[in-house]
Amino acid sequence: MPVTPGTDELTELEQLAIDAATEAGRFILDERPAQLRVAETKSSATDVVTVMDQQAEQMLRQRITAARPQDAIVGEEAAAKDGESGVTWLIDPIDGTVNYLYDIPAYCVSVAAVTGDASTPGGWRPVAAAVCNPSTGEVFHARLGGGAHVAGGRGVPVQGHRLAVSGVTTLGQTLTGTGFGYLPEVRRRQGAVAAALLPDIRDLRRAGSAALDLCAVASGSLDAYFESGLNPWDLAAGWLIATEAGALVTGLRSAAPAAAMTVAAGPGVHAQLLKRLEELVPAS
Ligand code: IPD
Repeated sequence: MPVTPGTDELTELEQLAIDAATEAGRFILDERPAQLRVAETKSSATDVVTVMDQQAEQMLRQRITAARPQDAIVGEEAAAKDGESGVTWLIDPIDGTVNYLYDIPAYCVSVAAVTGDASTPGGWRPVAAAVCNPSTGEVFHARLGGGAHVAGGRGVPVQGHRLAVSGVTTLGQTLTGTGFGYLPEVRRRQGAVAAALLPDIRDLRRAGSAALDLCAVASGSLDAYFESGLNPWDLAAGWLIATEAGALVTGLRSAAPAAAMTVAAGPGVHAQLLKRLEELVPAS
């Protein structure tokens, strides 16, 4: 079982996650090229997004390494950095890349400190995390046992407030988020599951950022969320923030949340959604 850092270290990790995510969030918002979609027609938009991704990841790595040189770092864009402290940072410089490309204000920077073996599904767990949506100014954050909070954003007091999941208890009333991978064959399977689930739930949302979807479960603006195919850096921060807000975050058939499946919901509805998804998604 991974070792849990003490309270002082958890507080330090949470603050570092907040600072790093906020700084990189400001960068991707302020430096977003105004003509990004025009560039698309000249076949360079994807490259521009990739460059922003790489620069933001570099910024995150520098800040984390300066503060905690012994920690490992695994990110979406660059090679993993080894460490000796037992803490690994899972970082996604832009989660919601397609929204970023289209200037839809639902993209974020996701930063999580985890313990355990980050390369093994089910072998690690997040202990401190932050997700910054620079378009709204919201910074969602949590540390193990410390609750989940949001600071910034419309109507949120300067000191922030504590997050709590919705109290929905019936699947038929459950507003459910999901997402789809990039490969056509994967999307075909995911679409079939979504179509089969649709008659059983209140409605389905596809916002385009897994990290923000998990934060939406934490704040109660979604009742539930599920998705297969997520990378560890897509789900690590949101997993902790949702859990600390009272959600159950699991995989199917007693597995930990991972690429095979991530299911997040309040305790009133998690078992019902899990049961339905286990009927729809065959055991592999
Ligand atoms: C993607 C987003 C999207 C989810 C995909 C992810 P990216 O991450 O989180 O919502 O449906 O599975 O890959 O590519 O924007 O970092």
